[in-house]
Amino acid sequence: MDLISADNLSDEQLDRILGQAEHWLEANREGHKRHDLLDGRNVVMAFFEPSTRTMLSFDLAAQRLGAMVTTLPVGMSSVTKGESLADTALTIDAMRPDIFVMRHSEPGAPEQVAELMDADVVNAGDGTGQHPTQGLLDVATIRHHFGRVEGLKVAICGDIRHSRVANSTRQLLDRLGAEVRLAGPAALMPEGHDCDGIDEAVRGADVVMMLRIQRERLEADLGDKPGEYLSRYGLTAERFGTAASGAVVMHPGPMNRGVEIDGELADSEHSLITLQVEMGVATRMAVLDLVTENRRNA
Ligand code: CP
Repeated sequence: MDLISADNLSDEQLDRILGQAEHWLEANREGHKRHDLLDGRNVVMAFFEPSTRTMLSFDLAAQRLGAMVTTLPVGMSSVTKGESLADTALTIDAMRPDIFVMRHSEPGAPEQVAELMDADVVNAGDGTGQHPTQGLLDVATIRHHFGRVEGLKVAICGDIRHSRVANSTRQLLDRLGAEVRLAGPAALMPEGHDCDGIDEAVRGADVVMMLRIQRERLEADLGDKPGEYLSRYGLTAERFGTAASGAVVMHPGPMNRGVEIDGELADSEHSLITLQVEMGVATRMAVLDLVTENRRNA
């Protein structure tokens, strides 16, 4: 099966991924890093946009499940000679990989590719569209820390308009019964969406998830001076002090320390940012297991 959007998953599949992510987190922590679920399978990855966390964690997840992983160096590929995405996808598919993990700047690109390929396609982020495995690892991290998602107040703050993370994570949080609050500068909110002020969103929240300003997707400069964004819209220690007792800080990364988040807060005991990264490998192991199940049982 393909994983294009978080809402492609049935309740049963979502539950299975979250349960399996816990299992793989524990296995990784115990140093058990050789499993044979994907033994003999080929995973091909192509990242048409930069990545550290997603690319490496898919690579490690696939290797830990026994797969052979090949990553197309996009900047050295025939894409630079003008080969279309469709022709690139058909070329890769003709080499018979089992799984194709892709990131692309165009929303909808993984869905188009999935229609062309026999391989199971996993969306590793499509422009301002979806980032389903980030959404899954975010809710897996919250569930691991609090033991539940239902009933928690989660503030997602920052550049909501350009964030595929906000799209996928919010969908899953809504579905699992969290109360989601969105806040950010008016220019960075989705069209037609009311903005909870950052102070209102953070006050009493159990989880404060900060998002990076995606300046690469902004048409106009925000006109903010150094330090201004943090004090007006970012997560300062003072602002975080109004969150619920036991509240935690999250960020999908990469972070702009001192812009959307106070650097010391990001490194503090309240931060789940490193756990998010660790959970990223575990969650992607669960996803690779799920998407290849039919293929393995055929
Ligand atoms: N969160 C996330 O997608 O990070 P990368 O861009 O480093 O993969």
